[in-house]
Amino acid sequence: MLAADPALAGGTPAVQGRGGILWFAGRFNAASGAVYLGFGARMCIVRAQPNLGVMPPLDSNQKEIPMPAGKRFKITCVGAGNVGAAVVQYCAEMDLGDIILTDIVEGLPQGKALDLTQAAPIRGYNSVVTGTNEYKDIEGSDIVVITAGLPRKPGMSRLDLLEKNANIMAEICQNVVKYAPDSIVIVVTNPLDVMVYTAFKKLGFPPERVIGMAGCLDSARMRAFVAMELNTSMKNVDTMVLGSHGDDMVPLPQYTTVSGIPITRLMPQDRIDAIVERTRKGGGEIVSLLKTGSAYYAPAASSARMVESIIRDERQLLPCSAYLTGQYGLDDVYIGVPVRLGKEGVEEIVELKLADEELQALHKSAEEVRTGIKGLQDMNLL
Ligand code: APR
Repeated sequence: MLAADPALAGGTPAVQGRGGILWFAGRFNAASGAVYLGFGARMCIVRAQPNLGVMPPLDSNQKEIPMPAGKRFKITCVGAGNVGAAVVQYCAEMDLGDIILTDIVEGLPQGKALDLTQAAPIRGYNSVVTGTNEYKDIEGSDIVVITAGLPRKPGMSRLDLLEKNANIMAEICQNVVKYAPDSIVIVVTNPLDVMVYTAFKKLGFPPERVIGMAGCLDSARMRAFVAMELNTSMKNVDTMVLGSHGDDMVPLPQYTTVSGIPITRLMPQDRIDAIVERTRKGGGEIVSLLKTGSAYYAPAASSARMVESIIRDERQLLPCSAYLTGQYGLDDVYIGVPVRLGKEGVEEIVELKLADEELQALHKSAEEVRTGIKGLQDMNLL
């Protein structure tokens, strides 16, 4: 717009029109004697409307087409720690819906929610963020992201966390069943593949509505390492990392490309091997650097990416921990595989053609998950 006079907002423009994706508007302000003119592309109408009062689009009879009311999604994040708060931040910044942040620690989710609310005017998001210690507030959630649990400490393996986090998961799932029985649940708590299996069993939801976040994160790490090695844009790099979220994960160099070019043509094998190894140890590298706590920006960004694909029904092909029923020769286990994520949750599990050693690595990885599951069964926790 040439002028952002509030007088223009809400008033009927003296002149208006549109053709294709272009529009224009003009108005004479009697008080100031000024003439205001506006023009732009259709995209601008939507973005500028709240502040500049640009007229809504018109139908062929020159009647205003009401802005679609749209559904406001309700997203819950259980666990207001480092990962949970960052999940809420990213989801809010993408305006994915209104967000409930909950935790057992009194004041923690309320404080972080208020802080994120006060960031909204500057960051420009409309998501309403509410902190609570009451499970009843998650009622009717469309998506529940579970980040509650203990983070890994230096020298601690993910499996060390097993018992403690399985108990936490059971308590949370009981409340999700009670208050958000139709939700899609994304588990982030480690040890990931065992925890999402635990959630699946405790929730009793169909498997397409219970998904683990891991492959997105591992693939993002590999993307970053490839881009750093080649000094190229992260956006150009595509990777696929399958298997469990642990040292036995299965990064797939044969499915790693830079703008469609296989990395095997861009760097020598020893550099690829080093990247694969660094990806496998990606979480541990950050734990050692931080000394207290574990990674949270990339895990949260990966979780928000999954929420986005579901809420916007984008059907993105993302590596996620999904329940297998024979795919890749595996059954009754959660493991990282490429899935299409849409409004129903896991809408498809994609079976890639794997080399023999990759398939063997995937099976070895599944064995590690089964060991964890068996550990919980032995403790009567499953
Ligand atoms: N209900 C709700 N919240 C809980 C519960 C519970 N029963 N038990 C613990 N929490 C909360 C804690 O109070 C804490 O605020 O979970 C939060 C965990 O936050 P952090 O300790 O900061 O851990 P974070 O770094 O966020 O990691 C969370 O994600 O990546 C994984 O390995 C990581 O399993 C860990 C999880």
